[in-house]
Amino acid sequence: MQLTRLLTLAAVSGPLMVSAHPGHVEEDATPELKNYKANVRRSAEGCTFHWAENGLQSRAIARRQATIDMHRRRLEKKDSSKVLNTSHYESDIKLNSPFEDVWSASSIPLNPEGESGPYWVVGERLRSNILESQRGVPVIIEEQYIDVETCEPITDMFAEIWGCNSTGVYSGLVAEGNGNPSDVGNHNTTFLRGIQRTDEDGVVTFLTLFPGHYDGRTTHHHVVAHLNTTLLPNNTLAGGYYPHIGQFFYDQDLIEKVEATYPYNTNTIPQTSNKEDRVFAQETEGSTTSDPVLHYTFLGDKIEDGIFAWVQVAINTSAHHYPYYTNVLTADGGKNVTGTDCGSYTVIDGGLCNTTSSD
Ligand SMILES: *[C@@H]1O[C@H](CO)[C@@H](O)[C@H](O)[C@H]1NC(C)=O
Ligand SMILES: *[C@@H]1O[C@H](CO)[C@@H](O)[C@H](O)[C@H]1NC(C)=O
Ligand SMILES: *[C@@H]1O[C@H](CO)[C@@H](O)[C@H](O)[C@H]1NC(C)=O
Ligand SMILES: *[C@@H]1O[C@H](CO)[C@@H](O)[C@H](O)[C@H]1NC(C)=O
Ligand SMILES: *[C@@H]1O[C@H](CO)[C@@H](O)[C@H](O)[C@H]1NC(C)=O
Ligand SMILES: *[C@@H]1O[C@H](CO)[C@@H](O)[C@H](O)[C@H]1NC(C)=O
Ligand SMILES: *[C@@H]1O[C@H](CO)[C@@H](O)[C@H](O)[C@H]1NC(C)=O
Ligand SMILES: *[C@@H]1O[C@H](CO)[C@@H](O)[C@H](O)[C@H]1NC(C)=O
Repeated sequence: MQLTRLLTLAAVSGPLMVSAHPGHVEEDATPELKNYKANVRRSAEGCTFHWAENGLQSRAIARRQATIDMHRRRLEKKDSSKVLNTSHYESDIKLNSPFEDVWSASSIPLNPEGESGPYWVVGERLRSNILESQRGVPVIIEEQYIDVETCEPITDMFAEIWGCNSTGVYSGLVAEGNGNPSDVGNHNTTFLRGIQRTDEDGVVTFLTLFPGHYDGRTTHHHVVAHLNTTLLPNNTLAGGYYPHIGQFFYDQDLIEKVEATYPYNTNTIPQTSNKEDRVFAQETEGSTTSDPVLHYTFLGDKIEDGIFAWVQVAINTSAHHYPYYTNVLTADGGKNVTGTDCGSYTVIDGGLCNTTSSD
């Protein structure tokens, strides 16, 4: 039986081609999607009192502080003069600040169903550290997922993240517009891609890289959430459905600071700002505005020391969204897939696989 279709994300007339991503499908918000987002927002607003009452908020603050402290201690060990010279006053995560300052419905990206884009690679592994040997500004990202219907954290959900490296290249695929298209070895790379299982507070943490940029897009991370999926012995997932697809962004002034550092500053592709970005606009438009920009603080004195970033995402776990893909990671390495290789999934224009089960 076909999965209940809650949303119609795609434009009816078929996908448009975008220069930055060949085969990229633009997903225009339909009236159904807008209405759906409005419902989710209303429900999340009703959740805020519950979050304050059940301790989710105070645990979130304490947890983030502990993560920042842990990573700062690691930095300090490299140079003990830093420890001696550092004031341990923390102004960034305030334990006593009003609930609304720390966590309000308006700062929660509510099902900002952006685009999956064609560069999701199906079959990545569970791991928290996805940096591998990529150079640039490290980012620890803490994502917290809340069920908009129950106001409770979503536990045992698998959250997947991917992003490009500091010079704007995604791992796991070879394509025009993704670095050097004759570098076939990139089929087998996995950097900056990974999956984690949410804990009892609905939290996953990744050590990744502040993304660079490529043609036509602002700086962003991609995320896809998996539910009802099976964890295979080789630490990959099989089956399930996708209650959320989205992208996370950074403040423009932070992007400028990072882009001024090496090796970001070796990238000669023109930048696209948040203001100019199509997906940023899509995720933040209209009366159902969500805020998919990551909150952050610096870990050290220099931006190169790294960033701690966090976000809460409220989602409807009954929703079914349809991420697209053109590449898979298998035991035999990374592979292109199109047409018949989509297995039980449907094929859409441009040869992309659409993760709708055909039975
Ligand atoms: C992907 O599949 C879903 C579910 O059948 C459908 O609603 C959506 O339109 C498909 N996407 C495209 C671009 O065809
Ligand atoms: C979540 O999805 C279910 C199933 O379609 C729907 O009945 C419910 O109203 C949705 N809840 C919110 C808050 O959007
Ligand atoms: C450390 O403290 C010394 C003495 O006050 C000062 O000269 C130096 O600039 C400080 N270094 C840093 C990195 O703060
Ligand atoms: C980004 O990844 C591509 C493909 O692996 C690689 O050629 C490039 O050197 C990487 N960028 C940096 C700064 O390492
Ligand atoms: C995968 O597809 C891209 C074009 O989308 C092509 O450049 C690349 O050579 C293909 N790789 C393989 C192994 O067929
Ligand atoms: C979960 O998966 C099982 C089989 O793998 C399926 O029978 C069931 O309908 C799925 N449930 C949901 C909510 O998708
Ligand atoms: C993991 O196991 C599945 C099932 O055997 C297989 O299809 C897949 O290729 C494996 N993935 C990796 C990365 O080894
Ligand atoms: C990827 O790695 C597999 C073995 O793990 C190898 O057989 C394959 O040739 C590699 N592919 C490329 C494009 O280097």
